[in-house]
Parts: sequence; C-alpha cells; structure tokens
Amino acid sequence: MQQGGGFRYPASAILKPAEMNYHHAYHAGNFADVAKHLALVSVLLHLRKKDAPFAVVDTHAGRGVYDLTNAEAVRTKEAENGIARLAGLQGGPPALAVYLDLTRARDAYPGSPLIAAKLLRPQDRLVAVEKHPDDAAALTAALRPFRKARAETADGYGRLVALLPPPERRAAILIDPPYETETEFSDTARAVDGAIRRFATGIYLIWFPVKSSASADGFCGEVVAAGARKVLRLDVTLGVRSDERLTSAGLLIVNPPFGFEAEMREALAAVLPRIGDAQADVTWLCGGE
Ligand SMILES: C[S@@+](CC[C@H](N)C(=O)[O-])C[C@H]1O[C@@H](n2cnc3c(N)ncnc32)[C@H](O)[C@@H]1O
Repeated sequence: MQQGGGFRYPASAILKPAEMNYHHAYHAGNFADVAKHLALVSVLLHLRKKDAPFAVVDTHAGRGVYDLTNAEAVRTKEAENGIARLAGLQGGPPALAVYLDLTRARDAYPGSPLIAAKLLRPQDRLVAVEKHPDDAAALTAALRPFRKARAETADGYGRLVALLPPPERRAAILIDPPYETETEFSDTARAVDGAIRRFATGIYLIWFPVKSSASADGFCGEVVAAGARKVLRLDVTLGVRSDERLTSAGLLIVNPPFGFEAEMREALAAVLPRIGDAQADVTWLCGGE
C-alpha cells in the first residue's frame, strides 16, 4: 500500500522461539553459504587494509560452527554440493585462499560469526545476534574464545537499530534472515532502510533466496530505494532446478569496497566449476566502480 511516496509494510511477524523452525545446521556449507562466506571474507580483508578499527554486526548469526558429519547435514547432503566440492582447490584471489583455509575441517565448518571472529584484529569487534535460544547458546560457546566478539540472544532487527552507527564509523553488517515468514522480505527491506538512514557508509551484505524472480527483484528494488548509493547484486544459481531445495540465492552488497566485484568474479570462476552446473550473475543495481 503506497503512502506518502513510500511503502508501508505490514506489521512485522517476528516469530517467537517456539515458532522458529529454521535451523542452519541443515544448510551449512551449501552453495549459498560458500558464496556468502566468500563475500564476507572479501569485505573483511578489505577492512583490515587500514589500521583504523572496524565493527562487524551479524544480525542473524546462527550457531557459529557446524559439524558437517552430523545427522542434519548428512540428511540434506547440501554441503556435498558446496564446500565438500572444494577439497584440494588451491590458488585464486586472497578471499578464496583465506576462506578455504578457514573451512578445512568437516566437523567444524565456521558460520558467518566465527569467520568474522577469526578475522578480527585486536582493535576490531563483532556483535553477533541470534534469536533462537538453542542456537544462541551454541553461538555463545563458539565465540567464547574470542575476546572482541560478543554473542547476544535477541531479535536481530531490533538490535541493528541500536548498534548503528558504530563508533568506529567503519563496519560490515551481515543481514542473513531465514525468510521463514511471508513478511520477511519486507521486514528485511525495512530494516535495511532504517540501517542506511542511521549509517549510510556501512558495507552491508544482505542475503536472500531467489525462489521467485518477482519477489527477489521487488526486494532488491526496495533496498535500492532506501537510498543506497552503490548496490551490487550477486546471484548464484544451480543448473538443476528442484522444488524441494533452494537452487538460486542472491546477495546484495551495499557500498562494496573497491575491487570486491573483481575478487568475487575471480573466486567464483574458480569455485563454481567444482560445484557443477552453476552460474553467477553479478550486476550493479546502482552506482559502480
Ligand atoms: C540463515 S541462518 C544464519 C546463518 C549465518 N548467518 C551463517 O552464515 O552462518 C538464520 C538464523 O537467524 C535466526 N533468526 C531467525 N529470526 C531471527 C531474528 N528475528 N533475530 C535474530 N536471529 C533470528 C535463525 O534462528 C537462524 O539461526
């Protein structure tokens, strides 16, 4: 419904823990995780180029670490079409080399907060938010060894507003919801809008599923309308379509660092032939290098 030049979204259907059915343990290390985590590594390596401190905010953090040999991962076999295909891969741009180095152990695949925690320097910090109590407890344990990483059991959208702008004025913000409800595209677009208003220069990585082109394109349009100056869209699609599992996933990168696009193209050119019939589409939605 149009309102005063913008859209009014339906009231956010924030789930109670009892209604939260998504568990990333079934999907960890799949093709979408590989692309998202590579992008996160690329952004963090960029932020590390300057001595000035940076913050990382991970609004939907998950458990932090996943055993790909356990029942959930074995049941879906999603990692078999993702990280498992990259065994023995060498070379490529720095982000790929670092990602491969961080993900060697099959019984301890790092989720986004653990990847970030491992790439922090003493002057940097991470706030990782997870709403599901069980996953939040696992996250707290996974981040315990990292002095500059903090796990919070909370609603990631609510915390995003409170955490921005970060005092460091340099930050990567990962927004990676499960898209369990019909309103989650609009909830996420609204959260991004509020975040960009508070902190326009942050580097935002926003993950989304591409189950319908219309919904995905509409969502991307909303993010661009939030006033972001530079937005890159990166989709990875598996050739074999399936109604049962996700075969196409997107990532919006708001304010990607200079060189990010080239690094991701190079990394994905090395990775995707291993995964099989997979392709990447990289498009500037606004701005560019
Ligand atoms: C796709 S998973 C996150 C994966 C993680 N970012 C990674 O890359 O390793 C989404 C997570 O968001 C959590 N979640 C769902 N709604 C949430 C909310 N409103 N606030 C914070 N976390 C939420 C789910 O329990 C789930 O663990």
